[in-house]
Amino acid sequence: MSVHILNHPLLQHKLCILRDKETGTRDFRTTVSEVAMLMCYEATRDLTTRPVTVETPVGTAHCQAIAGKKIAVVPILRAGLGMVDGVLSLIPSAKVGHIGLYRDPDTLEPVEYYCKMPPDIAERDILIVDPMLATGGSASAAIQFMKNYGCKNIKMMNILAAPEGVKRLEEDHPDVEFYVAALDDHLIALGYIVPGLGDAGDRIFGTK
Ligand code: PRP
Ligand code: URA
Repeated sequence: MSVHILNHPLLQHKLCILRDKETGTRDFRTTVSEVAMLMCYEATRDLTTRPVTVETPVGTAHCQAIAGKKIAVVPILRAGLGMVDGVLSLIPSAKVGHIGLYRDPDTLEPVEYYCKMPPDIAERDILIVDPMLATGGSASAAIQFMKNYGCKNIKMMNILAAPEGVKRLEEDHPDVEFYVAALDDHLIALGYIVPGLGDAGDRIFGTK
């Protein structure tokens, strides 16, 4: 698996806002969306382009346009929803598939509760989004889900990751490209990333 740690200064600055326990719901949600947009910019560097010619007001320009590859962004509910708008602001024609997973509080194993995909999902390049990669259980299950649908080109985008989660993805899905804005120190027994940012879903939706 290729792990891309995106250490762009704008991303690192926005991580300070997300990690700060004093950041309120509105700013947290806006910043998650902005981080997702910046990460999407990096994660789409290898999109293929095709030559096009356009007439400018003063002449002919030979340009490169996206080659028309179909993309689907797949948030892991619920926290992943906070990253969708940021991605769609750069790729407005992408379709959105949803996977509902929550972690069982005792076992930390992912439990599926919802799934809805575009009909042509197997033909699309997949960008799975979730702010947090902790044990890696949710991400690994979501990637396997997409593989079961026949998807071939899958990328995973998390804002923060614990080393345990990265190791799990490397073992389970060595073929997947993985993008993260910061690799944190460790996990605690409750499954929280340290130093992390707390519970991403609760902070995005104001549920705690
Ligand atoms: C969080 C997070 C990931 C998962 C990561 O979701 O958004 O989906 O935990 O943990 P893992 O790597 O150990 O699987 P959570 O289960 O809290 O659900 P929520 O998004 O509904 O809050
Ligand atoms: N999920 C979260 O929302 N936060 C963590 O620290 C770990 C998993």
